[in-house]
Amino acid sequence: MSANRPLRIAVFASGSGSNFQALAEAIRGGGIDASIDLVVCDKPAAYVLERAQSFDIETFVFRPKEYASREAYEEQIVAKLREKGIDLVVMAGYMRLVTNVLVEPFYGRMINIHPALLPAFPGMDGVGQALAYGAKITGATVHFVDGGTDTGPIIAQQAVPIEDDDTREELGARIQQAEHALIPAVVKWIAEGRVSLDGRKVTVQRS
Ligand code: GAR
Repeated sequence: MSANRPLRIAVFASGSGSNFQALAEAIRGGGIDASIDLVVCDKPAAYVLERAQSFDIETFVFRPKEYASREAYEEQIVAKLREKGIDLVVMAGYMRLVTNVLVEPFYGRMINIHPALLPAFPGMDGVGQALAYGAKITGATVHFVDGGTDTGPIIAQQAVPIEDDDTREELGARIQQAEHALIPAVVKWIAEGRVSLDGRKVTVQRS
């Protein structure tokens, strides 16, 4: 995606930030030509902000209620992303709908991780939805972000079996394990310029 310099990433998160942590550690460990240059967060008390601080990564924190509209805070976010020269946005537990203000300039450069095998169980609580439905297999999906709720082109998926006696917490923890491997893998492919998008079809060139 980027020419001759490491891919510059912004991670968007609203909560714990375990996916941020997995990606930051993978980058620090080497082998991914990228840096996380910004964490965007809509919850001033979110634990992801402490994690970002421990990696010495700049944060952009906003309170949605202080803005007249979604578009209004997204305009500020886009300005910040441009100022930081961000190439790729990684949504990792960012629990807000997005508008065209964000999607248009970053389409094809903005990915999201969702805790289900899309198109099954989109939206809130993908883990609980799969359990309540009685599905036998669920998993994690990384997809490009479009204007819909978890509807964008799928880049990668990892299946996770549902056991008969699974609690929401147990299943959620196993899905998160899958997410923590999937997100760094996809970011590495993107950093290596191996991911192409044609309509809904995403192709990953094997190395
Ligand atoms: C992740 O499991 C992610 O899939 C989910 O939020 C969790 C965030 O965990 N995202 C969604 O449900 C979006 N629809 P984390 O803050 O520990 O990375």
